[in-house]
Amino acid sequence: MLLIRDLAQVATPAGRAAPLRGEALGDIDLVEDAFVLCDGDTITAVGRMRDLPSLDGDVLEVDGRGQCAVPGLVDCHTHAAFAGDRVDEFSLRASGAGYEELHARGGGILSTVRATRAAGEDGLRAAVERHRGWMLRHGTTTFESKSGYGLDRDIELASLRAIRDAGGVPTWLGAHAVPPELDDADAYIDFALADVLPDAARIAEAADVFLERGAFDAGQARRYLTACRDAGLVLRLHGDQFTEQGAIALAIELGARSVDHLEATGDEGIRALAASEVTAVVLPASALFLGRPMPPARALVDAGAAVALATDFNPGSAFCESLPLCCSLAATQLRLSPVEALSACTVNAAHVLGRADRIGRLAPGHRADVVLVGATDWRHLAYHLGGDVVSRVIVGGVP
Ligand code: NIG
Ligand code: FE
Repeated sequence: MLLIRDLAQVATPAGRAAPLRGEALGDIDLVEDAFVLCDGDTITAVGRMRDLPSLDGDVLEVDGRGQCAVPGLVDCHTHAAFAGDRVDEFSLRASGAGYEELHARGGGILSTVRATRAAGEDGLRAAVERHRGWMLRHGTTTFESKSGYGLDRDIELASLRAIRDAGGVPTWLGAHAVPPELDDADAYIDFALADVLPDAARIAEAADVFLERGAFDAGQARRYLTACRDAGLVLRLHGDQFTEQGAIALAIELGARSVDHLEATGDEGIRALAASEVTAVVLPASALFLGRPMPPARALVDAGAAVALATDFNPGSAFCESLPLCCSLAATQLRLSPVEALSACTVNAAHVLGRADRIGRLAPGHRADVVLVGATDWRHLAYHLGGDVVSRVIVGGVP
């Protein structure tokens, strides 16, 4: 057994429901002078120190003094399967080059495709492990990652295997960009659906598409996603990042799990999402990194949409592996409270990954994934802007 004791606070999204919408996103269960007790990889009890039962047998104790416990963080949108970096492009952008312009010139996503293909399966596995380690140090105990930097059969499948073998939740982002060896988006989708989907569907849990000018249009996205749904995959979309191209309507039509980005979403999109089962995944680090408008997260929550928060970790638009930093951005840029931000990157993110019954809360029966925040008020998770706020991470009952 593992006993995390003498914690200043234990903070966890309230209730058992998922996803949390509207005012429920801001409901928290807070226990002061508290413990978390785990048996193997499962939480068995959370309570006040004065109610701690006497424990027999082997108990490993973790000293929680001066710290708070929150659920292990869930990053439901990353692109961790890439080799190399784009620091040169980052420097060019700092002196005025546009992100979409670099992509149109064959840089951007395609320069990472070149580096990822060159790294091969072993290099890619090492890169995913390294990126996973960065996320873990910032409190991410469950991560999703997309493929999308292979865009050929071998490296797309190698990406999905590397993500799965690193403990991640693999999403096939087959439709991320058109690779240089094919003429157009339709020809690429023909290839991807015929040659990659049958095997990708055996490894991945979901499929994703970049629906945007310069990438794939709504007709191409519909064709790709319909085939992926028929192969048994959950559907997700990159939508409304720069322009509204019908991603929300398509997500609702196809019963997608989420639509992610939404920096360009207007009132009609907000209303449509709020009335749907599709989760809105907001990625403030990406908007910040590209100097773009922030997504309308406050309006989405107030309208009743299910909102999740993720990093979008990738080499081009968000070289950021820290969900605590995203919680800061949620509080300072998106006008979400620290409680809403926490719920959005725990319970609601777990819902996006189809795992809300097992992760995203500190509650009996949930996996023993716990983040210790190095402060006596857990809200320092969002308050400390980019600081060293995670003092300890427990994954599946293992500190
Ligand atoms: O979510 N927008 C498309 N894909 C990624 C960025 C990929 C890249 O720049 O390498 C995103 O922002
Ligand atoms: Fe993304």
